[in-house]
Amino acid sequence: MAKPKIYFDNAATTWPKPEAVYRAVEEFMVNIGANPGRSGHECSLNAGRILTETREKLAQLLRAPAPDRIVFTLNCTDALNMALKGVLRPGDHVVTSALEHNSILRPLEGLRERGVIDYTAVPASPAGELDPADFAKAVRPKTRLIAVTHASNVIGSITPLAEIGAVARERGTLFLVDAAQTAGVLPLDVRRLGIDLLAFAGHKGLLGPMGTGGLYVRPGLELAPWREGGTGSRSELTTQPDFYPDHLEAGTPNTPGLAGLNAALDFILGTGVAAIQQKEQALFARLHTGLAEIAGVKLYGSPDLTRRVAVLSFTLAGHDNAEVAAYLDRQFGIMSRPGLQCAPLAHKAIGTFPEGTVRFSLGYFNTEEEVDQAVQAVAALV
Ligand SMILES: Cc1ncc(COP(=O)(O)O)c(C=O)c1O
Repeated sequence: MAKPKIYFDNAATTWPKPEAVYRAVEEFMVNIGANPGRSGHECSLNAGRILTETREKLAQLLRAPAPDRIVFTLNCTDALNMALKGVLRPGDHVVTSALEHNSILRPLEGLRERGVIDYTAVPASPAGELDPADFAKAVRPKTRLIAVTHASNVIGSITPLAEIGAVARERGTLFLVDAAQTAGVLPLDVRRLGIDLLAFAGHKGLLGPMGTGGLYVRPGLELAPWREGGTGSRSELTTQPDFYPDHLEAGTPNTPGLAGLNAALDFILGTGVAAIQQKEQALFARLHTGLAEIAGVKLYGSPDLTRRVAVLSFTLAGHDNAEVAAYLDRQFGIMSRPGLQCAPLAHKAIGTFPEGTVRFSLGYFNTEEEVDQAVQAVAALV
């Protein structure tokens, strides 16, 4: 009998996807196949329609005012680079947080090393939570941007976006949100939250294929393109078109992936973000309670699970994290992620640097049985 597969690595990328996603990718590859926006023939128009529909559904999900301000990218890292390098100018200062993924920290550190900008990472509490007052304190006259994750990919803590957005508005800075861990899982409303830029992955909570992601850019905010080239529009120009999304989208997009994301968005809009959040919350609470009862297991993050998405970090006294993860995989088919999860400062905040933790991250398609099996497996290991 094949070993059971318990996939608890949904924060890296969700799996499985809704069946319709697989079918949409295949349908595009087999029956459409053409380059969108490049020609007037039927297949190119059909490919273009898929992109338009996907943009419209994303705008609906994020409550974005205009679908053309949703720019497709390769992943969330690509979107964050596009945002940071598109708005920051020499001499600017950025306020960010200790909970950030390296996809924010490394571009900022790179810009600082090259003498372009400076930045401040506000601290997180030992439970991995951020205080909006720290953001207000860190703002300087030269601060152009506040950049923060919506939820930690290490301990799942949800950032108080409304309060931090209010700081950005009061102090006249731009507000960039990394929604890698929350798009499709928590409600988002870019207008109500005063978000100028929102980066997301298509392959995590949005349940689409890898190689998809996007950046929402508030109408009226102009970004310098960090990638220029063919768009299929205004081909007489040797400069990048100034209208969106073409201003920031150059080169052939991942249309098979976006066809899959289009189908995934139907699934999410049909199921409802509230129902998705509720299901993941219930599984998360069951897992947390089960693991908390095992002697020798140390759990990280706030005990108030309503302030977290379904990302759980733990360590086992006297055991190496990589060995724990390898054992869970080999013996029980449980797939987790050990180590620092690309977020070194978050681990410094919760006191697990440099060893890191073992991370279980749940998704909509996990089940109570899988959660119970994982709890039993950890207990057996102890
Ligand atoms: C908070 C956060 N931001 C950004 C990223 C990068 O996303 P991607 O892998 O789509 O580039 C991740 C990925 O794990 C993440 O957790």
